[in-house]
Amino acid sequence: MLDTVTPTVVTMARATLYLGDAYLLLARLGWVDAIVTDPPYEFRAEGGGHYRAERQGMDQILDEGLADGFDLSIINPLLCGGVVVFCHNDQLPQVLPYLDGSFERQALCIWRKKNPQPVANKHYRPVMEIYIHAWNRGYHPRGTLLELDREIVAMSPRGDAKFGHPTVKPDAVMDKIITNVAGEIICDPFMGTGSTGVAAVKAGRRFIGIEHNPKHFATAVERLRRAHEDHVPP
Ligand SMILES: C[S@@+](CC[C@H](N)C(=O)[O-])C[C@H]1O[C@@H](n2cnc3c(N)ncnc32)[C@H](O)[C@@H]1O
Repeated sequence: MLDTVTPTVVTMARATLYLGDAYLLLARLGWVDAIVTDPPYEFRAEGGGHYRAERQGMDQILDEGLADGFDLSIINPLLCGGVVVFCHNDQLPQVLPYLDGSFERQALCIWRKKNPQPVANKHYRPVMEIYIHAWNRGYHPRGTLLELDREIVAMSPRGDAKFGHPTVKPDAVMDKIITNVAGEIICDPFMGTGSTGVAAVKAGRRFIGIEHNPKHFATAVERLRRAHEDHVPP
């Protein structure tokens, strides 16, 4: 069955990008030093009252299945030294025990938003997003003391910086995460527009990305090409 799946692959000096399904492809790629990923969250994207009109991204999130969650088995501790995974507050009861059982240590970290959505939707205002860094022996967080803060403050991308995707992560957040992650080969099985890859290539690492939406895959290819032009010597 798997042998019949031939994904589109785009190869660059420091990046290999696959257009296809992460659940079919990732296990076939072998060992990577770190998975750094922002998978589909599982959360209630309906509602929003009179602010709904300002939250056009929410309709796209629903249409593209980005509120449907992900299968935790995609994070396999036998195939990576560590993982950084974003998740919604409501997923923490599932994600934390899974990572605790799979890796030696883990840390809950925060991206604090300078420009949070003006909505609470019978919950708390979304002033921050959570990510968890979990690692096995030899893959502990890297960086200077300041770089090892568990919090980063940054703007949510707006306008052109969204690349037509509703959940693009800011460069500053991804740069910080890549600084903290050990190892040469970084993989994002839910790469969207390639934000993890851009940060990895800028930092001189190698990147493997998977995305199943052809429009976002094309954006990632273009962003990674530009990152190569700007940061990889010919
Ligand atoms: C939350 S978004 C990631 C956005 C990314 N962090 C960025 O900055 O552009 C998750 C991405 O995973 C993709 N995706 C969802 N399920 C997938 C699957 N089974 N295989 C590959 N990609 C998938 C979606 O199309 C979406 O672009």
